[in-house]
This record gives sequence, structure tokens and C-alpha cells, in this order.
Amino acid sequence: MASKILIGLLFTTFVIAASGNFNQDFEITWGDGRAKIPNDGQLLTLSLDKASGSGFRSRNEYLFGKIDMQLKLVPGNSAGTVTAYYLSSADWDTHDEIDFEFLGNLSGDPYILHTNVFTQGKGNREQQFYLWFDPTKDFHTYSVLWNPQSIIFSVDGTPIRQFNNLESKGVAFPKKQAMRIFSSLWNADDWATRGGLVKTDWSQAPFTASYKSFNAQACVWTSSGSSCSSNQDSWMKESLDSTGQARIQWVQKNYMIYNYCTDTKSFPQGFPPECSIA
Ligand SMILES: *[C@@H]1O[C@H](CO)[C@@H](O)[C@H](O)[C@H]1NC(C)=O
Repeated sequence: MASKILIGLLFTTFVIAASGNFNQDFEITWGDGRAKIPNDGQLLTLSLDKASGSGFRSRNEYLFGKIDMQLKLVPGNSAGTVTAYYLSSADWDTHDEIDFEFLGNLSGDPYILHTNVFTQGKGNREQQFYLWFDPTKDFHTYSVLWNPQSIIFSVDGTPIRQFNNLESKGVAFPKKQAMRIFSSLWNADDWATRGGLVKTDWSQAPFTASYKSFNAQACVWTSSGSSCSSNQDSWMKESLDSTGQARIQWVQKNYMIYNYCTDTKSFPQGFPPECSIA
């Protein structure tokens, strides 16, 4: 079942762990027909109605990667809907997770992009952003770079968040547990839009989100080990250059609407160690 194409080039190993076909790279996990891979596997759609949402996951498990997916979110009145797109390991108590969650809104009001990082089962690291475009009009690329030094979230190539490996400061970092890619579209109108004040208008159902152009340069994890024979791939060493640092500051200054590292109510005893290191 696992589909991976390993292309070894002289002196460098590129691991291209995506076939570009949703049928091969993903499996629909729930939704009783509401998740669809129409035509030739180039597109995947999730839908949500009053009875159920839907979801899918990657067939492969990955341990490090540079993973891109294009998403087009529920248009119009999407209040109460949540499109979650994330990587997660299996063992719940000690799980690692890298999250994008898109919180819908009334027509014309902005989506919130909610992000989080769990390490060894510990989360509470939310950062939220508005986007600088309407994410329902077109497809946009949402990326995770996950290597041994850091996790970088990007939107259309612009980094929005970085979580560095600070094991030396006692902060756990995801590097031992393989993760799958998951996505789901579900209803969360008890909290998602304006903190739960705006309810889902079911007369607008079904709500639909679409996915295309999945691309992963990643290490596929199997029982016999990792598909990455060496750490020579450039993404394995990639970090933010000065341009990237400037972009992330631009996003955080202009579009960040919540940062756990400044939320004194949630951390009366002081902020976690990663907050004090830029
Ligand atoms: C929805 O729109 C309101 C009003 O502009 C805004 O306060 C809120 O952050 C937006 N997003 C969500 C998900 O509630």
C-alpha cells in the first residue's frame, strides 16, 4: 500500500515521498461518503453537514519532512466550521503534534488560523493569526518544515511561526515519533467563531473544503526504519535566513492575534522556557 518513490541522485539523496495522487498518498478515514477524491486523484474534498463531518489521513508515517498542501477553505458563511490540517503521532499520552486549524466565520469576516505544537503530550502553545488574503477564494499553500533543529509553519512560502529545538533548555522536541498527516472538517460552533457566540447556519450546508498539490520531501518511516539514508537533504538543515526572520516578524507584528507567550492569564507562574528565547 505504501507508495513512495525514492530517487537517488549522485552524492545527494532526495526523498520524494509524495506520488501527487490522493488515492495513493491518503486514505479517507471517516465521514460516510462526505470525503471524496473525484476524478484522477488530483483533488480531495471534505464536506460537513448537520449529521457529520469528514476526514482523511496519510498512508505513510513520516519522521521529519518538508510538507506542502494547498487548501481552499469553506467559502461564504463558514461560522462554526473548523478545518484542521495537522501532523500527529499515535500514542496519545506522549504524542507530538503540529497543527494548523482554520476557524470559519460569517461571510466577509476573517478566518482565524490557529496553530499549536504538542511535544510528549504537552500542548498549550497556541498562536493565532489572521491571513493577508481571503483563504476561500483560491488555493493557498500551507507548509510544515520539520527537521531536527526546528519546526517552521509557512503560508505561501512566508514563515509565520517557528518552534526551535530547545532540548538543551529542557523543552521536549518531536524527533523520535513518526507522524501521519491528518485533516478533518467538523463542527465546533461551541467555541470556534467569536469564542462560540456565532453558531453554524445549517441552511448553508453542506460545507466543503478542498485540497490539492500535496508535496512531501520527507523521511517515510516503516517498521524497517527510515527512508532517509542520510541527512544530506537540504531541507534537513534548512533554517530561517535573515529574509525569513524579517518575514516572520512582519507576520507576527501585523497578523498575529494571540500568542501564548504573552498570555499572562494562562501562565501566572511564568512563561514556558521557549518563550524567552527568540
Ligand atoms: C470573525 O469575525 C470577527 C469580527 O470581525 C472577529 O472578531 C473574529 O476574530 C473572526 N474570526 C473568528 C474565527 O471568530
